[in-house]
Amino acid sequence: MNRATASHVLDRVLVLEMVRVTEAAAIAASSWVGRGDNDAADAAAVEAMRVALNELPMDGTVVIGEGERDEAPMLYIGERVGSAPDSGPKIDIALDPLEGTTLTAHAGPNALAVLAIAENGCLLNAPDVYMQKLAIGPGYPEGTIDLRKSPADNVRSIAKAKGVEPNEIIACVLERDRHDCIIAELRALGCGIKLIPDGDVAGVIATADPDTGIDVYMGSGGAPEGVLAAAALRCVGGQIQGQLLFRNDDEVARARRWGIDDLDRVYTVNEMAKGDCIFAATGVTDGSLLRGVHKRGNKTTTESVVMRASTGTVRRVSTEYRDLEHRGL
Ligand code: FBP
Repeated sequence: MNRATASHVLDRVLVLEMVRVTEAAAIAASSWVGRGDNDAADAAAVEAMRVALNELPMDGTVVIGEGERDEAPMLYIGERVGSAPDSGPKIDIALDPLEGTTLTAHAGPNALAVLAIAENGCLLNAPDVYMQKLAIGPGYPEGTIDLRKSPADNVRSIAKAKGVEPNEIIACVLERDRHDCIIAELRALGCGIKLIPDGDVAGVIATADPDTGIDVYMGSGGAPEGVLAAAALRCVGGQIQGQLLFRNDDEVARARRWGIDDLDRVYTVNEMAKGDCIFAATGVTDGSLLRGVHKRGNKTTTESVVMRASTGTVRRVSTEYRDLEHRGL
């Protein structure tokens, strides 16, 4: 029998199956919410996501995962996952079983279990270094943002495209000392700034949700998270640009190992997540994008979103599980 084509399987099988995977990771991590143990929360999510991924009928390869093989025992970059390694469609997977480990440990908002899949070769193999990011939601013309320009110039351009004054623009920025310059520049323009403690995947996606009021995401964070956020924005028509940042020779060598030669390149959304791709996330803690996992009596509820680039479909999935403890979850 011929291998099912990847696009057929993306279409018919994996879209909703992906939610099972992020739900499993989120439920596992939720037992650690507020318990101050980042590592235990992360380990629980990783293990649950790996088990769930291995039940999907695909020949999957982790291209963005928990790290390189020598540093991550599970879901390392290059690990093959899926229940059909010889016959299933070849799928590339970017994952973060727990995006916001500290948020989870401190019971902060917007911790997510996150997954993106695409046909083989369509997701940027970003090394685990920082990435400078600039993102806006859908509805803006191409060229509205340019990472090579200053934060102030980008705000002026976004304001012009939106038909408002620069001081009406609201930016989301990770609260880090390294962002003091960006924050000062935005404050000088009179912009509103939503500072987030962690979790820039949710921060980027917030630009696509008018209810958040956030117009633009700016600043540096993990490159893997940048690719995951790009997959999400691809699905809803947003724009993101990212540039890898290297702090030492080891990080440069790491990038070269993943085939990145042009170290200054500014990647667009389509260069980070091209072709058809699917993005799924389940809330671990309550946040602007999703409600977290809630347990009451024998009932556990989750909220997830799954989106697909080729159709622009966005599905919100609320799930109610009963008696999970009897199923070992
Ligand atoms: P983790 O879940 O891996 O801890 O990542 C949380 C996060 O806030 C990301 O969303 C963000 O990209 C990155 O950390 C920022 O890194 P840093 O904390 O080093 O500034």
